[in-house]
Amino acid sequence: MRFKDRVVLVTGAGRGIGRAIALAFGKEGAKVAVNDLNLESAKSVVGEIKSFGGEGIAVKADITNLDEVVEMVDKIRNELGKVNILVNNAGYWTIKLFKDTTPDDWQKDIGVCFIGTLNCCKAVIDDMIENRYGRIINIVSDAGRIGEPYLAVYSGAKSAVIGFAKALAKEVARYNITVNNIAAGVTKTPGVESFLKGVGGEDKLKKAYPRGRLGEPEDIANGVIFFALDESEYITGQTISISGGYTTLG
Ligand SMILES: NC(=O)c1ccc[n+]([C@@H]2O[C@H](COP(=O)([O-])OP(=O)(O)OC[C@H]3O[C@@H](n4cnc5c(N)ncnc54)[C@H](O)[C@@H]3O)[C@@H](O)[C@H]2O)c1
Repeated sequence: MRFKDRVVLVTGAGRGIGRAIALAFGKEGAKVAVNDLNLESAKSVVGEIKSFGGEGIAVKADITNLDEVVEMVDKIRNELGKVNILVNNAGYWTIKLFKDTTPDDWQKDIGVCFIGTLNCCKAVIDDMIENRYGRIINIVSDAGRIGEPYLAVYSGAKSAVIGFAKALAKEVARYNITVNNIAAGVTKTPGVESFLKGVGGEDKLKKAYPRGRLGEPEDIANGVIFFALDESEYITGQTISISGGYTTLG
């Protein structure tokens, strides 16, 4: 129970990587606020947390909207307490050549990945500063570090999160608040099913992964737990890949 009574907010946690992160914190004794656009899926994850004796609430908000995010954080503060650990997980990606994208595609990719992260950080940062404790972990992608074709706008949005996290880390380090990024490799979630079909399936793609398999949501959750630990308090402004050796950046 390494996070007993810590209040954790995980965005986009109704399925996929966010769900695994919410369950991992629930198993470690945290009080978990499970956010998603889809309230029913968030409620179902809270049900899973409660099934093993954990504590959590489902909170619906569109993270691209600051008013909705502030309202959500107020609700969490009233029902569970001030957010101690924020995991900016919700993401959105448009798979198209850049020349075929539209401003509406740009709004969605940048809105969820970057503006959503800014909104959630803005809504919790004063409480973290007051508490002299905080952990912010952003789920990004190596697309934001190496650039991925067909994901140009998403690559830019994740790159923006990485740059923002480095600067915020320096602003708030004095308050025992850390800000780090996890760059996921291809991880088996509902969100990547169509992408996997498009590239010829899992069996084909996994040959490119030195570990011999694609990521599971739990692989990413393990990294989030690492950054959130008290023992990780001196690690901030960093980005690590969790991709079975696929991306090995310095
Ligand atoms: N799965 C991968 O291969 C992979 C690789 C690299 C990075 N990532 C990143 O990991 C994160 C999670 O990806 P996933 O594969 O689990 O995604 P997913 O599509 O399976 O799940 C995303 C969840 O976020 C929710 N969501 C979307 N927009 C939202 C909004 N505006 N407000 C609140 N919730 C919203 C969705 O309803 C959904 O439940 C994303 O940031 C993604 O960019 C994933």
